[in-house]
Amino acid sequence: MPVDMARRRQYEGRLRQVAKRFGFREIATPIFENSELFTIKSGPNIVDEIYAFQDKGGREIALRPELTAPVIRMFVNELSNEPRPLKLFYFGQCFRYERPQSGRYREFFQFGAELIGNANPESDAEMVALAHSMIESLGLSDYCIRIGHIGVLRQSLREAGVRDDDLPTVLQKLDKKNYEESRPLLQACGVSEEDIQRIEVLTETVGGPEVLEHLQNEAGDYLRQMLVFLDALGVKDVSFDLGVVRGLDYYTGMVFEAEAPVLGAEKQICGGGSYSLSELFGGEKVFSTGFAIGFDRILLALEKEGKVCQIDRLDAYVVPVSDEVRPAAFRVLADLRNAGLDADIDLMRRKMGKALKHASSLGASMAVIVGSAELEQGAVTIRDMASGEQSLVSMDELVDFFHC
Ligand code: HAM
Repeated sequence: MPVDMARRRQYEGRLRQVAKRFGFREIATPIFENSELFTIKSGPNIVDEIYAFQDKGGREIALRPELTAPVIRMFVNELSNEPRPLKLFYFGQCFRYERPQSGRYREFFQFGAELIGNANPESDAEMVALAHSMIESLGLSDYCIRIGHIGVLRQSLREAGVRDDDLPTVLQKLDKKNYEESRPLLQACGVSEEDIQRIEVLTETVGGPEVLEHLQNEAGDYLRQMLVFLDALGVKDVSFDLGVVRGLDYYTGMVFEAEAPVLGAEKQICGGGSYSLSELFGGEKVFSTGFAIGFDRILLALEKEGKVCQIDRLDAYVVPVSDEVRPAAFRVLADLRNAGLDADIDLMRRKMGKALKHASSLGASMAVIVGSAELEQGAVTIRDMASGEQSLVSMDELVDFFHC
């Protein structure tokens, strides 16, 4: 609807501005791709939800469920010789065959960013800082960012005897904290009761930097270094959660999610982490890190917090008082538009009172009333729609009147 689109465009504009401020450049990829692009490494969650079909040439095609794989495909095909890191962002719709509910749609928009080039704590910190600034720019007040490391859980599972082939399914259950289903799977892999309990405790470990003190391994060192950079970037209100698994299978290191509790069940507004995909699409192995914000979901959260942004208003609404002055009123309209103002005119031949009412319903700041007596003096009447105050303004000064 027009009112929704005006709001969406304004929020989209804010996100774009922040991405540019962080040195990211915008890209766009096709809505559909070969299905294989998404089935190769996205994991069982995504594969179950894919909108896939055969085209007229018998090719297996899928509507994109996310944009990370398409961006990396584009990188391998077109951008692999560019200086690194590549900092890219995108805004576009995705499709997932899920059970629709509040905040979960079959068609939805993601605003995301990918940093292609290196796996180091400062690159990951840069991405979390970007997500943080984007969420802040929209004005959401109640949200939290939780950072984890997929390596911690993967390593614990491997040490407990889970084979690499079984990892995605087990991780999928642990991601949803679905212990009823993860337990029998772990038991079938020969994992001891003690190890199962240890793994469950790990996935429930959440808190401040003190969580990292218990992590005496590479992942712990990595997250501690990341914290130093986050602190330097002014991102202080994050927590650490060793249970962040993510629904997608391609993550290799740091992973993070942002949640807005106001949304209830579907509260995840952003998700991401570091990964490596390019080698699967025929390129050299390049580490990347990125995230995507669920645009529709974050807008829903803003709405629930009562933070609906003011929509851009019309600067001027021109009201011809009679049929004779109509052409002159259109000249005034053209002058206003040529001066860069948002201006409209009554096209329904309404009487003055009704036309002013309409101007007010359109959200015009000023009505420009064009009458024959004023025209003879080379002037028009301007009515401030908020106060009702009217003043006579000479035609020569009309544009200046709006600009000051
Ligand atoms: P994802 O967590 O699957 O990650 O999706 C990112 C965000 O999209 C979610 O946090 C959620 O807000 C939103 N979202 C997901 N599904 C739906 C849905 N059915 N309806 C409405 N919103 C939804 C990815 O897609 C990764 N590509 C993110 C990434 C980029 N990782 C690295 N780079």
